[in-house]
Amino acid sequence: MTETVTDDGTTRDTESEHPVSYPPSGDFVAQANAGSELYQAAKNDRLAFWAEQANRLHWHTPFEQVLDWSDAPVAKWFVGGELNVAYNCVDRHVVEGRGDQVAIHWEGEPGDSREITYSDLLAEVSRAANAFTDLGLVSGDRVAIYMPMVPEAIVSMLACARLGLTHSVVFAGFSSSALRSRIDDAEAKLVVTTDGQWRRGKAAPLKDSVDEAVDSAASIEHVLVVKRTDIDVQWTEGRDLWWHDTVGSASPEHEAQAFDSEHPLFILYTSGTTGKPKGIIHTSGGYLTQTAYTHHYVFDHKRGKDVYWCTADIGWVTGHSYIVYGPLANGATQVVYEGTPNSPDEHRHWNIVEKYGVTIYYTAPTLVRTFMKWGRQIPDAHDLSSIRLLGSVGEPINPEAWRWFRDVVGAGSAPIVDTWWQTETGAIMVSPLPGVTATKPGSAQTPLPGISAAIVDDDAKMLGPGGNGYLVLDEPWPSMLRGIWGDMERYKDTYWSRYATEGWYFAGDGARFDDDGDLWVLGRVDDVMNVSGHRISTSEVESALVSHPGVAEAAVVGAADETTGQGIVAFVILREGIENTGDALIAELKAQVSKEISPIAKPRQITVVPELPKTRSGKIMRRLLRDVAEGRDLGDTSTLVDPAVFDAIAKAGQK
Ligand code: WTA
Repeated sequence: MTETVTDDGTTRDTESEHPVSYPPSGDFVAQANAGSELYQAAKNDRLAFWAEQANRLHWHTPFEQVLDWSDAPVAKWFVGGELNVAYNCVDRHVVEGRGDQVAIHWEGEPGDSREITYSDLLAEVSRAANAFTDLGLVSGDRVAIYMPMVPEAIVSMLACARLGLTHSVVFAGFSSSALRSRIDDAEAKLVVTTDGQWRRGKAAPLKDSVDEAVDSAASIEHVLVVKRTDIDVQWTEGRDLWWHDTVGSASPEHEAQAFDSEHPLFILYTSGTTGKPKGIIHTSGGYLTQTAYTHHYVFDHKRGKDVYWCTADIGWVTGHSYIVYGPLANGATQVVYEGTPNSPDEHRHWNIVEKYGVTIYYTAPTLVRTFMKWGRQIPDAHDLSSIRLLGSVGEPINPEAWRWFRDVVGAGSAPIVDTWWQTETGAIMVSPLPGVTATKPGSAQTPLPGISAAIVDDDAKMLGPGGNGYLVLDEPWPSMLRGIWGDMERYKDTYWSRYATEGWYFAGDGARFDDDGDLWVLGRVDDVMNVSGHRISTSEVESALVSHPGVAEAAVVGAADETTGQGIVAFVILREGIENTGDALIAELKAQVSKEISPIAKPRQITVVPELPKTRSGKIMRRLLRDVAEGRDLGDTSTLVDPAVFDAIAKAGQK
């Protein structure tokens, strides 16, 4: 690439004519929360830096020690400190005189809306906390939350936090069997849900799935139901309760009690390399510190001025950290939208931006690419001038989508923060700092102040500019996971065994440094796929497929997909005597995956094959299947037991 530096300070790639990097405007720099001295401060004394960030929070009892890493890889942050997470996210703003400020501009999919101030939120969370207490729940108990994006979902999370209950939010798009396994794993006592959910103008049942899931689930005592769509529901007397009856009649006064900094706040299940999802455990003080810190600096958030919108669902970690905990700890005013971006039409997001004057818009690359497909005339028909900062998360953003996002949505000037992090990291780890970093399309660029990341090779050698290897985190960080629920061995094995001698966290992502030392995340190096920013493991889908009586064996790969990043492609072998009924069978298999996991895990393509390519040691060669799925020529097949298998697979694929 040939580069030239132009008058405005941008570096241009003279071949493509696109700037290589985009320095922030002088106006942005002048008002930015972050300055380059932040990196220096963290470098001078990392733990003192984090102690300072922790003091963004209200501590009932101050901490005595910043980090205790003596029991590595299980960290203790802000040792001896006590706080109440909900107090920090809600009460504090009321106590400090911001009760009338809007916390949530809630926009329902059918067009209804609610404005919830911090005072309103405090009353609601207090009511829910009183109602949960009346149900007999005590600190340490687990609560499953299986809800669409309604305010009561956020209220439920905060009520749990207030009482020291550990929530486990299960994405409402997951099937009843996925919900059941998560309830069983955490032994949840309560499920909070809704009667139904709005999806593209239609009410779809939701409580039905809960009924199926909790039928004979030993741990569940109650199902608390928010009426959202008014569709018919089955009712189990004694077990099922309406939210409006119980929470609605509870007192709006509740005094928050303080919990230890390391008190478990939530469990969130995520896909790993084996079929069984992992319950990632996050605790209180460190998690809230880092979500609040990153929300403040990475989004350049100004309390009382900005209108912030993160388009994630609370079923994912992005919703936990950047809808609920980070923004609310910082007293943000935010938009929460219930529905899909094309309901009632493709203008919906831009109508919302205009209606509320959204200034910060945080979304996923897959949605940006969808907007691109719909065409720029749609956002162009709106006044998006309120937007001053854009964010991206969930997968690498391709430079073309990055530029479109900046030009069309950000009026050619809004900085884009490409934020790399994971369910496990709890909060943003690598990202440009707006007002400091000259941004580069496609690169997450720099570990945040206080965060240490490296790219290493198989032999644990740290690589410099130009290096290509694995992303590791070589120092503990406040919002790091504290384990996997019920399986600490798996925790150590998954994240800490690869570089055990060095004591580094293995993120499971490949990454490279460019010649300027900027970091580019290249995607997963394990068997985890990334479909529209959702993590789905190949073995999870494989086990759903083989649970169909007709399937003997299945192999699943993630193949490049223009819109969703990766698409799921499956190859199956049928059992003896099972007839291949073509489309009917394929439809049945897809339905099986929806039922076992979720419609989001449904393969894009399923091919019935006579055999699967295996190495001599019996491992399925996914790399070769990926080549087939992406239509590439097959490379070296010499390690295969039977290279002829491929002709058959390639032929089946062409049918
Ligand atoms: C990927 C989502 C490139 C990565 C917060 C990671 C990204 C996985 C980025 C975590 C990004 C997330 N650039 N890749 N900005 N952000 N990823 O747990 O592969 O749902 O390991 O957390 O998403 O997905 P998770």
